[in-house]
Amino acid sequence: MTLKEEVMWVEKYRPKTLNEIVDLDHIVESLQAFLKKPKTMPHLLLAGIPGTGKTTAALCIARELFGENWKTFTLELNASDERGINTVRDRIKDFSRYGRSGFGDAPFSLIILDESDQMTGPAQTALRRIMETSSRTSRFILICNYSSKIIEPIQSRCAIFRFSKLDKQAMAEHLQSIAQNENLQMPPEVAEKIVEYSNGDLRYAINALQTAAAYRSGVIDEQTVLQVIGEASPKQVQLMLTKALSGNFMEARKMMYDLIGQYGFSGFEVVRQMQREIMKVSHLSDDEKAELTNIIGEYDFRLTQGANSDIQLSALLAQFSKFGNSRGK
Ligand SMILES: Nc1ncnc2c1ncn2[C@@H]1O[C@H](COP(=O)(O)OP(=O)(O)OP(=O)(O)O)[C@@H](O)[C@H]1O
Ligand SMILES: [Mg+2]
Repeated sequence: MTLKEEVMWVEKYRPKTLNEIVDLDHIVESLQAFLKKPKTMPHLLLAGIPGTGKTTAALCIARELFGENWKTFTLELNASDERGINTVRDRIKDFSRYGRSGFGDAPFSLIILDESDQMTGPAQTALRRIMETSSRTSRFILICNYSSKIIEPIQSRCAIFRFSKLDKQAMAEHLQSIAQNENLQMPPEVAEKIVEYSNGDLRYAINALQTAAAYRSGVIDEQTVLQVIGEASPKQVQLMLTKALSGNFMEARKMMYDLIGQYGFSGFEVVRQMQREIMKVSHLSDDEKAELTNIIGEYDFRLTQGANSDIQLSALLAQFSKFGNSRGK
């Protein structure tokens, strides 16, 4: 069974109230204090690494402010999806025009702007003006990975919360509670292994757990986890690299499809592991490693821009084969 056919556990176990959020005690307490007197709630800027609960926290706030009908009073925008600041402005204007200005203790609407660090400088300046003119009727929650990419005048209008790597023990406990709920046995050291590899990103950890669970029913053992999180796979990646570097494009490409299809790796993970493996190849000179790293960097970037990962990885392997062929001459 693939991940897509099943409910994603990251969604199934996404906290619905601030209380359920794992770790982040200080942030949760401050947010709860604001929610006791919603009128005092400032605009918020939630910044930090992926998979640590920023979007989750914003949605919890919406639910706690407005209850079950939170969607009526909440506008969720993704700064990088929208066609620029004009669209954002129009949607915010439309939203407030329909009188969706909250009720009771929270007489305002909530505007959640995800990936706001993707907005250009001029767009942010425009956003700042929008925040000013609609501040009586709206509260903003801006979400981003890098607060340094948000212009100073916006930062100074917000209460800033920084989300850093989540606590390892808290993550391991959360994984265990999911495992229990899914009737899975998982020895503590296996949970630790997943946490170790996840680098403070709980979304990654939960996805790894779900992938491992799909391999064998009932038990999550170390071997499966290693397979899923990739420590066992470098062999597979190594082989693919060796094929490519010896100019054997078609075979390398087939192995790449296995990695993605059978092992469920994302394009990013394959690229990341290729990078790691290249550094270990003893017959390459430092200059050659640098050249290959450059190529990898280019494809990593293309993937972040949303390019198709099969095609990009094929093209990457093609470049490596070309490199291998010219080297052999
Ligand atoms: N602190 C947390 N407590 C509980 N669950 C969490 C936490 N952080 C992440 N998760 C889990 O990971 C999933 C993704 O979290 P979320 O969308 O909030 O991440 P994010 O910080 O917004 O990441 P990104 O920067 O990539 O948007 C959630 O659905 C939830 O299952
Ligand atoms: Mg998010």
